[in-house]
Amino acid sequence: MPLVTSTEMFKKAYEGGYSIGAFNVNNMEIIQGITEAAKEENAPLILQVSAGARKYANHTYLMKLIEAALIETDLPICVHLDHGDTFELCKSCIDGGFTSVMIDGSHHSFEDNIKLTREVVEYAHDHGVVVEGELGRLEGVEDDVNVSAEDASYTNPEQVQEFVERTGVDSLAIAIGTSHGAYKFKPGTKPQLRFDILEEVERLLPGFPIVLHGASSVIPEFVKMINEHGGNMPDAIGVPEDMLRKAASMAVCKINIDSDLRLAMTGTIRKYFDENPSHFDPRQYLKPARAAIKEMVRHKLINVLGCNGKA
Ligand code: G3H
Ligand code: 13P
Ligand code: ZN
Repeated sequence: MPLVTSTEMFKKAYEGGYSIGAFNVNNMEIIQGITEAAKEENAPLILQVSAGARKYANHTYLMKLIEAALIETDLPICVHLDHGDTFELCKSCIDGGFTSVMIDGSHHSFEDNIKLTREVVEYAHDHGVVVEGELGRLEGVEDDVNVSAEDASYTNPEQVQEFVERTGVDSLAIAIGTSHGAYKFKPGTKPQLRFDILEEVERLLPGFPIVLHGASSVIPEFVKMINEHGGNMPDAIGVPEDMLRKAASMAVCKINIDSDLRLAMTGTIRKYFDENPSHFDPRQYLKPARAAIKEMVRHKLINVLGCNGKA
């Protein structure tokens, strides 16, 4: 099967009350772990590449690895640029075979975000590629920031309709309280997401696919593994799985996961070296790391995203 866009995946996910997993990739073992789990669970997939990942692994290497995954799995797979910040970067990914790009203009003013996003949408649609935009800024929500500053980082539902209409984006990332990385919520506080914003967006844009960034659960088992084998991570709190399931049952059709992949890989490799200090063949420690990613992704597909059996 050739690479696909996310259009059909999102339509089915919206109607079916589940979400597609968008997993960040930057090397062969990560791609293999994710795609092997998806194959066994018959799940559609989005493999996403950040600018940093593309720089690290090289566009052609990543595309060829993903092509190999297509051959091995025969699954519907969409290749997506994560957090594109310029027209040129988006164009380069579109010209290089990506089927989806994100243009993240969330750090610009509303008007500048619209202008940049519209420019990318025109080029992408002319080339059969879909576009994710972002409105609202993802930041850690701190208890002690004043309310207006805190609210400023959330998506304003009143702006979404105009943004979508004027840009022509195919999906929209919104900020409802998640943040990137392992430290999403203050230790000792209860994680909270603004489901009221999501509900309002859903009401204003019925049927339109919404994207949730910063959606790793920061799986405690892997943080513990890192700390038990020579690591030193402070208390790390991610998005609880029941909240992700709730979002997936609503308008959220794409859930972005990167940190959980990093934690699974690093925890497993740390444990391996701790238990086998004399080993030095990369295959010996990358094999269990790949297996850990596979099982972690399988768990997400079945218990968090609900997209197993939907390919
Ligand atoms: O949203 C950010 C992703 O986790 C990608 O991170 O830019 O370090 O590759 P990166
Ligand atoms: P996490 O850091 O929560 O995995 O979020 C990843 C992400 O949003 C990539 O765009
Ligand atoms: Zn993100």
